[in-house]
Amino acid sequence: GMTRTPLIAGNWKMNLDHLQAVALVQKLHWSLKDASHEFDDVDVTVFPPFTDLRSVQTLVDADKIPFGLGAQDLSIHDSGAYTGEVSGEFLAKLGCGSVIVGHSERREYHAETDEVVAAKTRAAVKHGLVPVICVGETSEDLEKHGASAVPVAQLETILDGLASDSEIVVAYEPVWAIGSGQAATPEQAQEVCQKLRDVIRVSLGDEAADATRVLYGGSVKSGNIASFMREPDIDGALVGGGSLKVDEFSAIVRFQK
Ligand code: G3P
Repeated sequence: GMTRTPLIAGNWKMNLDHLQAVALVQKLHWSLKDASHEFDDVDVTVFPPFTDLRSVQTLVDADKIPFGLGAQDLSIHDSGAYTGEVSGEFLAKLGCGSVIVGHSERREYHAETDEVVAAKTRAAVKHGLVPVICVGETSEDLEKHGASAVPVAQLETILDGLASDSEIVVAYEPVWAIGSGQAATPEQAQEVCQKLRDVIRVSLGDEAADATRVLYGGSVKSGNIASFMREPDIDGALVGGGSLKVDEFSAIVRFQK
């Protein structure tokens, strides 16, 4: 995007314990320093498992590592008898600035519906966290309805009634491209991301549509990141596997258009 700061987000999923997390973030910091990387023109956020958040936060604070910190999920509730759940309030207190909602793995393995994702989006906003809202079609959806119908419908439901001044990030992750090594083409991803920006425009207005970062996710690597970043409606990437390897993630952060 023209005026939007690119965002490179690393979703670690259920990988790396807190000791491995500290090692990775330190190595990543050194790697970017060695490459004389400046953070003026790109935001980097990591999304470790809950158990790593405190350790990574300490590091980010102490060493002034210019990474954002986010969580991978949150409860729709603020507090109470919800064993095993984590409140957005707690995440905000721990220094998280953002939280992933609606990842396809949550939808698939925890039966999260668009209504649940909408509630989680509101819970995030309520506690001052930027929700990184994931949408995307399965290969079955793709065959039946084309690429954009399902993600567009998902986002419409999730944004319905949301306050127009809510800061959000949207991530287009075609399910068939996740962890498959088979990324969408930049043209295909651009087409859907443009439609998702149209949904933001209708739901939240022009200002939000122009300011909101829309990311592509699904088999993003150092070899293909630049081709996605050249597209006008793709403002960054949500990276899974490629965020777990220091050299690879460092190269993705240092993409050249
Ligand atoms: O949330 C990011 C993720 O789903 C993409 O995973 O491994 O294909 O980069 P990966």
